[in-house]
Amino acid sequence: MAVNIALAKGRIHKAVMKHLLQSGYEFPTYSDESRKLIFEDATGAVKVTLVKSPDVAVYVERGAADIGIVGEDVLLEEAAGAAVYEILDLGIGRCRMAVAGIAGKKIDFSRRITVGTKYPRIARKFFEENHHGVDIIKLNGSVELAPIVGLSDVIVDIVETGNTLRANGLEVLQYFMDFSARMICNPVSFKLKYDEIKKIVELVKEKDFEA
Ligand code: PRP
Repeated sequence: MAVNIALAKGRIHKAVMKHLLQSGYEFPTYSDESRKLIFEDATGAVKVTLVKSPDVAVYVERGAADIGIVGEDVLLEEAAGAAVYEILDLGIGRCRMAVAGIAGKKIDFSRRITVGTKYPRIARKFFEENHHGVDIIKLNGSVELAPIVGLSDVIVDIVETGNTLRANGLEVLQYFMDFSARMICNPVSFKLKYDEIKKIVELVKEKDFEA
C-alpha cells in the first residue's frame, strides 16, 4: 500500500524531498522548480503531494494523506483540535516567532497596540498574556509591510534567517516561541499502514537534516 505524504510547499518540501532522494527513493518527475504537485516514487511505495502549509493537517485529518510534514507554527495556528497524531519532530525548518517593528522606533507597549500577522491565534495569546490590549489585523503574506505603510505598530511573524526583516528595515523586539517541522499522521492510517509509515519515520529520523 502506497503511503501518501502531504508536504508543506516551500522550504519544508524542498528539505524533505532532498532527504528522501538521498535515502534512496527515486521520484522520476520531481525537481525543486517543477510546478507539478504530485510525485510518485519509482517503486510506487510513496506518493507525495505538495500543499499549502495550512492545508497539510486538513489533508491528514480527512485521510487525503496518511502523513503530513508541516511547521509546528502552522499546526498551532491552523490545526488546534485536529484529529491527527503528531509522530515526529524532524528537527528541520527551525524558526522562531517574534514581535518585530521598524528598526530604531520605540513602541509603547503600555497602550493598546495594533499587530499585523499571519498568526492571529498565536499573536493574540501572546499579547493577551503579556500586554494590555491588542488589535490584531490578519494578513496573508508580506506582513513586513504592515508597520512600514502604517497598517500596524508591529508584526508577529516567523523569523528564520532574519533576512526578510533586515531587507525591509525591521528588527526583532522580542522572540517568544521556537518551532520545528513536525510529522503528523492520520489515526486510521497509523493502524492500517503502520509498517510502511514506520519505515518512513525511521528513514527520516536517521538523517542529519541540518547538514
Ligand atoms: C516567512 C515569514 C517571513 C520569512 C522569514 O514567510 O513570514 O516573511 O519567511 O524568513 P527569514 O527570516 O529567513 O527571512 P515565507 O517565506 O514562509 O512565505 P509566506 O509569506 O508566503 O508565508
